[in-house]
Amino acid sequence: MKNYTFLKLSLSKYCLSEEKEVNLVRKTLYTIGNMEKRSLVTIADHSREKIEYLIQMAEEFERHPNRRLLEGRVVATLFFEPSTRTRLSFETAANRLGARVIGFADPKVTSGTKGETLKDTIMMVSNYADIIVMRHYLEGAARYASEIAPVPIVNAGDGANQHPSQTMLDLYSIYKTQGRLDNLDIYLVGDLKYGRTVHSMLNAMYHFNPTFHFIAPEELAMPEIYKNFCRDHGIRYVEHTDFNADVISGADILYMTRVQRERFTDLMEYERVKDRYLLKLDMLSKARPNMKILHPLPRVNEIEYSIDENPHAYYFEQAHNGLFARQALLCDALGITLEEIRNDSTIIN
Ligand code: CP
Repeated sequence: MKNYTFLKLSLSKYCLSEEKEVNLVRKTLYTIGNMEKRSLVTIADHSREKIEYLIQMAEEFERHPNRRLLEGRVVATLFFEPSTRTRLSFETAANRLGARVIGFADPKVTSGTKGETLKDTIMMVSNYADIIVMRHYLEGAARYASEIAPVPIVNAGDGANQHPSQTMLDLYSIYKTQGRLDNLDIYLVGDLKYGRTVHSMLNAMYHFNPTFHFIAPEELAMPEIYKNFCRDHGIRYVEHTDFNADVISGADILYMTRVQRERFTDLMEYERVKDRYLLKLDMLSKARPNMKILHPLPRVNEIEYSIDENPHAYYFEQAHNGLFARQALLCDALGITLEEIRNDSTIIN
């Protein structure tokens, strides 16, 4: 209410129409609310400086992952969609920092099956937990939850929209393997239409002057909205439908993705495209020495198993980095600073 009154007074001198004023007040209050609550809905909310700050936090946690920094806190993980890595790495992150974890991995065991709404579920869990990590099949569900919840919401994936915590671990992995985030050639391969990880990646990398190559069948091409985003922000991109050793020879990062069966309304279309892009060992013959293969996982049929032992393969280490990136995100959302982490006396060796 204090913010509302202050904003109304500040805007009155501009003589805006009632509708414009209401919209501006709502938008500003939303931003202030999220800053106060420190929710993470989309990586697009983070500046270059904030991303670098979170990477420094992740480095600290990689050095010392076991601490009691979150002792006394409760972290809720609400997964309305299946997950292995995201849920378990958030829960491990919380456990290794001394927090307690509540939640569910299957919405069938909740009162949602009796008709309880998402709003009521979020309000209830806010009574019990200090922070909510949520994955939902609906695009925009995390934003909605962040608008109504009195505690921070961390988006663990909302439909085909965004997956910001995955992006933080992807950026941390890129930084660790390339020694920088600036001026890299990043090749995104596979399901660029429904792949929320590649959408978040675009939003984050625009701070770092990348050149993107989008490799996808026409049916799964990068959506126009994201190509517009690139054009608006001066990000170079090239589109390909071929996938072979020559096409990927200029990559610093080869980011493979799964064709997401669960997002298709027409399963015949899924059958047509699902095995189109398989990375085979002999396709690495012309790769740059520094090139690393990333994949958010799970893998279905995008990377030959023989590549797992190859020095270019980095996807399992990438998933491991998720623990440290998510420790950073939990602490940041709960208001713990890098300085506090550096001066932390709760480290357990
Ligand atoms: N990368 C990722 O989101 O994996 P999960 O679906 O297993 O969480």
